[in-house]
Amino acid sequence: MTSTLLDGIGLLATQDAALGEIRDAAVVVEGDVIAWVGAGSSAPAADRRVGLSGRAVIPGFVDSHAHLVFAGDRAAEFEARMRGMPYAAGGIQVTVAATRAASDAVLRRNVERLAGELLRAGVTTFECKSGYGLDVGTEERSLRIAREFTPETTFLGAHVVPPDVDRDAYLALVCGPMLDACARHARWVDAFCEHGAFDADETRTVLRVGQALGLGARVHANQLRPGPGVQIAVELGAASADHCTHLSPADVEALAASTTVATLLPIVEFSTRSPYPDARRLLDAGADVALATDCNPGSGYSTSMPLAVALAVRDMRMTPAEAVHAATAGGARALRRDDIGVIAAGKRADLVALDAPSYVHLAYRPGVPLVAEVWRAGLRAEWQR
Ligand code: NIG
Ligand code: FE
Repeated sequence: MTSTLLDGIGLLATQDAALGEIRDAAVVVEGDVIAWVGAGSSAPAADRRVGLSGRAVIPGFVDSHAHLVFAGDRAAEFEARMRGMPYAAGGIQVTVAATRAASDAVLRRNVERLAGELLRAGVTTFECKSGYGLDVGTEERSLRIAREFTPETTFLGAHVVPPDVDRDAYLALVCGPMLDACARHARWVDAFCEHGAFDADETRTVLRVGQALGLGARVHANQLRPGPGVQIAVELGAASADHCTHLSPADVEALAASTTVATLLPIVEFSTRSPYPDARRLLDAGADVALATDCNPGSGYSTSMPLAVALAVRDMRMTPAEAVHAATAGGARALRRDDIGVIAAGKRADLVALDAPSYVHLAYRPGVPLVAEVWRAGLRAEWQR
């Protein structure tokens, strides 16, 4: 197996508690895994060497929440919103109509395009949800297409009730034929627990049926107003409660006492001009926090994990170190993955070199494309060659 020494790393932010941050560091990659991490001065020999000229290196970002299988866009809705229209769950229907009408090839091209953007943004693992089909056939093909790009696929048939369908009939469809057709293409089951989407009992029902079919649970929780989503996520042992924008003290306590990760999606608050979640309260209480893009055509159409990091620092008062940790190791925990998100021997060789001496520049230089080089499973990403 070929080994590669990456040296000349100005600052290596490993996200590993034992290794911490290392200045003048080096990493040895063997095949698709990291074989050695430490000071450049004591690096072992390797078959090849790549000099990084003082660049900072972080783990590849883990984007644990994205909706990439859709057709069309909602630029007009965004424009209206910026003129003062509020964001509501109902806008999803516009994308549902376009997605149902799209061929597999069109949907596949959309995922491919956004997966390419994610990679350029330094994302080496991403989750991808269905939820713009809302009928058995379109949900099934959405997940089948998502699976071509990532193993982290999530069934989100419970996104909203489609128009002209009876609520109870739709829930029965989701919990019966739809999950039966979709479960084999999914690792996770999710539900949008929100006013205008699904209530507490409906959310529990869908997640439990998904869990009985072997899927792990995750929940869109407490996005637009306070609600039961976070408590349900904790109660059902969900890997993650996502959004967490409107939390009660009891919600914060429940998250802190649980293994459910609080996944914050600040691009949504930015793009809907809404108040940001209180990351400090969660972190200070001891909750596990992740950052993700939530890339979707309605509430936040960005694949930029660096933007999520910058917003978390600027508007949610996370330190740059906390934000980068949440966007890497935090995302991995939100996906219950222990092979990614940190730079340590034995982990998958997912690395990002920044065109900067420190990861702090991700927030300090907002909007600047600092992701210079990306390795995913030991392979240098195509677009740099
Ligand atoms: O995570 N909240 C539900 N789903 C997406 C938005 C979907 C849409 O507006 O198309 C979200 O914000
Ligand atoms: Fe979402």
